[in-house]
Formats: sequence, structure tokens, C-alpha cells
Amino acid sequence: MNLAVFVSGRGSNLKAILDNQELKSLIAVKVVCSNDSECNAIKLAESKKIDTFIIPKIQDEKLVDELISFLEKRNIELIVLAGYLKLIPPSLVDKFENKIINIHPALLPSFGGKGMYGMNVHKAVFESSAKVSGATVHFVNKEYDKGKIIAQRCVDISDVKSPEEIAERVLSIEHNLLPFVIGKFALNKIEIKGNRVFILD
Ligand code: GRF
Repeated sequence: MNLAVFVSGRGSNLKAILDNQELKSLIAVKVVCSNDSECNAIKLAESKKIDTFIIPKIQDEKLVDELISFLEKRNIELIVLAGYLKLIPPSLVDKFENKIINIHPALLPSFGGKGMYGMNVHKAVFESSAKVSGATVHFVNKEYDKGKIIAQRCVDISDVKSPEEIAERVLSIEHNLLPFVIGKFALNKIEIKGNRVFILD
């Protein structure tokens, strides 16, 4: 299965995908797209000789068409948002319906939406006094963090002393959950029935 990974920052989830042994025979990361040409994730892609595509701040329809044809030319079958901070243009969502997934560092539908990214999420979870947090992989639609949930994993945070500690625990879950879900896509083991998504054995 041919993948495009969209990134904006550190790139630890991209690294987890590229390093995952089980995925090696199932997927190929054909392109890494970013709004930030200087971010660590893009540097990682370049070091692995993966094609990159930089999405400028101001997007017009022409550019989105260019991005879509770039992805189509490489026969991209799944787009993975791994720490991508911008909204996906509606025409791209339409073109890749149920073929774009995102990882969010909390248990949606709580602690999601515009502005809820990075440490903002973990600070909100910390302040809420919640005892568990976790990671969510969901389909991407036209609103931030609102698409159908594919998979979630929880982590106990009852003893944490800071949002940073939550971030660390959640991140280690993300690095397993995202490759797991990608593997299921590659094996055609994701089934959508109405508003629910099933992962088959
Ligand atoms: C992760 O916590 C992910 O859930 C969120 O942004 C962060 C990206 O981290 N969407 P990295 O760039 O993969 O290290």
C-alpha cells in the first residue's frame, strides 16, 4: 500500500512508521508533505530519500489541484496525518474519502478541535483532573478531529505531576497505535458500517 504522510514537526510518529518491522512488507511511504520545509520530520524524510512536497501557507485551488495530482501520480492509497497541524483542504478530503487518517494525542471526542494540538491538549487533560488519557486514530473529515474514530488506546495518568508526563506516556502509545492501524488498512481489515469502524482480526 502506498502512503503519503503529512507532518509539521518533530516526526517521531513518521519515524515509528518507517522503523516498524511489520509494516516493511506491507507499505511504502512514497511522499512526506509538510507546511514547514524546515521541520525535523521533513529532514528525516530527506535523509531517507523520500519525496517531499511543501504546502505553502496561502493555498489556492490551483495548488490543491497540484497536490492532488502529485498524490495521484504516486498512486497514494492512504494519507496519514502524523502531527500535521493544518486543516486538510475540502477538495482533498473529497478526493480521498475514508482514505485520510489522523492521530490525536487524547481520547476523542474530548480534548479535540481547533487549537487542540501538542502541549495544549496535554495541559487541558492535566487541568481537567482526568485519570486516563490516550491516543485516537480517526478518519479525517472537513472539521478538526471530528471524523469517525478507528482505534483508541488508554493510558493511566492518575499519578502524573505535569502535562509533560502525560505527553510522554501518550506518545509511546501513539508509536504503536498508528503503525497498528496502518497495518490493518494495508491488510484490508478496516470496515466501516454507518458511523462505526470495525477492525477485523
Ligand atoms: C503527536 O502527539 C500527534 O498525536 C499530534 O502531534 C504530535 C506529533 O508528534 N497530532 P511527532 O511530530 O510525530 O513527533
